[in-house]
Amino acid sequence: MSDSPLKIGVLISGSGSNLEAIVQRIEAGDLNASVELVVSSRQDAYGLVRAEKHGIDALVVPKELYKNPLEADAFIASELLARDVEYVIMAGYMRMVHAPLLEVFPNRVVNLHPALLPSFKGAHAIQEAFDAGVKVSGITVHFANEDYDCGPIIAQHPVEILEGMTLDEFETAIHAAEHELYPEVISWLSEDRVSVDVDGKVHIA
Ligand code: GRF
Repeated sequence: MSDSPLKIGVLISGSGSNLEAIVQRIEAGDLNASVELVVSSRQDAYGLVRAEKHGIDALVVPKELYKNPLEADAFIASELLARDVEYVIMAGYMRMVHAPLLEVFPNRVVNLHPALLPSFKGAHAIQEAFDAGVKVSGITVHFANEDYDCGPIIAQHPVEILEGMTLDEFETAIHAAEHELYPEVISWLSEDRVSVDVDGKVHIA
């Protein structure tokens, strides 16, 4: 590939298995991107260990700063801009994002949700889909906006809840699908194939 790698910043709060999947694709030469910065809302996020292992710069946003979420987002935006980040990738980030970040990165903040939006919004989507007895759930990659889990949908992938499947097995299947789809969507972004039309619908060229 001759184009320069897409510069991304990854926002995490926990395990960081999606961060790992993205970095592995990059290191394998399958994804033309570069993680310029990992931002964590938590000091104890295991994703920070993963970032260090891969030699990626990381920043923990202090709890006190989150008391004013707008200031926290302005701080995060300035750190990302200082590294020329082009897309902000939320991967298990358990905070809302607000205008100071969204306005700096319009249609450039991407979120991953473990259900087929608009079904099962919120922080307990896997459990709620399982409890509801749906036969098919899945995952959604979408642009973030100020309405939680409501931004323009970029891609979705179904995950079946098969007869006899346990919640743990369903969760494992969800994460396996995420680890495939999220790097794939980032590759579309790196190829400049993703656009949002005036109706807020996303098109993949
Ligand atoms: C994923 O299931 C994602 O859909 C949700 O949070 C989880 C993050 O997992 N938003 P990880 O931290 O990437 O392992």
